[in-house]
Amino acid sequence: MRLFSTWLSGLAFSPLALAFWPSSDVYNSVQVPESPYNNDQPKVKVETLFQFPNNGSWIDNMVVRSDGNLLLTRLDTPEVWQVNTTSGNATLVHSFPNVTSCFGISEIADDVFAVVIGDFDSKTYQPTAGSFSVQKLDFSKKNATQDERALAGPTASEIAAVPESLALNGMATFAQDSNLVLVADSLMGVIWKVDTETGDYAVALNHTTMTAAPGPLPLGINSCTVLGEYVYYTSTTRMQYCRVKVDKEANAVGDYEVIASGFLPDNIELTPDGTAYIPTDPQNGVVRITPLGQIALVAGGQISMEMPGPTSTRLSKDRDVLYVGTSGGQIAPVLGTFTEPAKVVKITLQS
Ligand SMILES: *[C@@H]1O[C@H](CO)[C@@H](O)[C@H](O)[C@H]1NC(C)=O
Ligand SMILES: *[C@@H]1O[C@H](CO)[C@@H](O)[C@H](O)[C@H]1NC(C)=O
Ligand SMILES: *[C@@H]1O[C@H](CO)[C@@H](O)[C@H](O)[C@H]1NC(C)=O
Ligand SMILES: *[C@@H]1O[C@H](CO)[C@@H](O)[C@H](O)[C@H]1NC(C)=O
Ligand SMILES: *[C@@H]1O[C@H](CO)[C@@H](O)[C@H](O)[C@H]1NC(C)=O
Ligand SMILES: *[C@@H]1O[C@H](CO)[C@@H](O)[C@H](O)[C@H]1NC(C)=O
Repeated sequence: MRLFSTWLSGLAFSPLALAFWPSSDVYNSVQVPESPYNNDQPKVKVETLFQFPNNGSWIDNMVVRSDGNLLLTRLDTPEVWQVNTTSGNATLVHSFPNVTSCFGISEIADDVFAVVIGDFDSKTYQPTAGSFSVQKLDFSKKNATQDERALAGPTASEIAAVPESLALNGMATFAQDSNLVLVADSLMGVIWKVDTETGDYAVALNHTTMTAAPGPLPLGINSCTVLGEYVYYTSTTRMQYCRVKVDKEANAVGDYEVIASGFLPDNIELTPDGTAYIPTDPQNGVVRITPLGQIALVAGGQISMEMPGPTSTRLSKDRDVLYVGTSGGQIAPVLGTFTEPAKVVKITLQS
């Protein structure tokens, strides 16, 4: 994977990539007349809420439970952890057998979560085609047996194995009134839909913007999320944040639109008004993007040590705090050398 690392750090430090990087100078000078949105760089307070002890730890995705706790998935080990957002206390809540990694996580019913798992080598970045599946972690335990209820953790069961998939990654619940989840396949360059009741699955969305850009890293679509009638997604090596209008079966009914580009996006958090918070993993920052595509840097930055390798962002229920999960900078160490254990950063948004 030397080739890959060289390619990525070349990209991260090239004048071209830096020219695209949203310094406030660049984006303050972009004139968007009649914009209803104000996207000045926000005032923030940045703190570490929790950090794992070991280098090599890698948070892939997170979700906020209704009680305010965070659940996070790990890519370096097949574990789901819970972090108390008040105390920063973290506990292992589930470990999946027979796979190496956990990826996307999404709430599908009250306190019931779907989790993507599969085999992925976090040193060579190679997924094992055919190893991916969608599992259920039920913290509500509505259908649990007495024995299961007595255990502290959630009950786990398989929703569907998806042997035709190549590299399942980010996931989103499609709509509250359907049983579908959408799952990004980073290598195939498609979005799968999986019925969480029947386990039926099929390719739902398939477009060039979801495929990997030419180059050594075959990482196309990374994540997806749903707001209204649109599916939003990020495509990492294409450096694009996009959306497409869909029908009730998640089939495309509109054009595939690029909202913003020129940075390396990972998982998406969206507010109800369509403002996105997107971590830029190898670029070590989090950006905020309005529905018109105006970009502001929220925290971190290319050569900042604040949050090496941010992979996922989630807002608190009151949207005053943005939690960021990191990989410790493993894909592209800060300034080419610095990595640290994965952590959860708490960003208090002050304006
Ligand atoms: C988080 O920890 C605090 C302090 O230990 C505790 O009072 C609170 O109940 C915990 N929160 C949740 C959601 O478990
Ligand atoms: C952290 O949470 C675990 C499990 O809920 C509990 O046993 C432990 O005492 C907590 N630690 C702290 C420092 O609050
Ligand atoms: C894990 O693999 C073992 C051996 O192949 C198998 O017996 C077991 O059923 C598997 N467990 C799960 C949860 O897939
Ligand atoms: C519990 O079982 C019912 C009936 O099989 C099913 O409709 C429901 O989705 C299940 N709930 C959970 C949380 O798995
Ligand atoms: C995606 O679309 C392309 C072009 O239409 C097609 O060749 C390919 O088979 C499709 N892939 C999947 C997995 O549906
Ligand atoms: C993690 O790796 C860095 C080098 O990138 C090293 O300086 C640091 O001490 C390591 N931290 C731990 C906890 O091992």
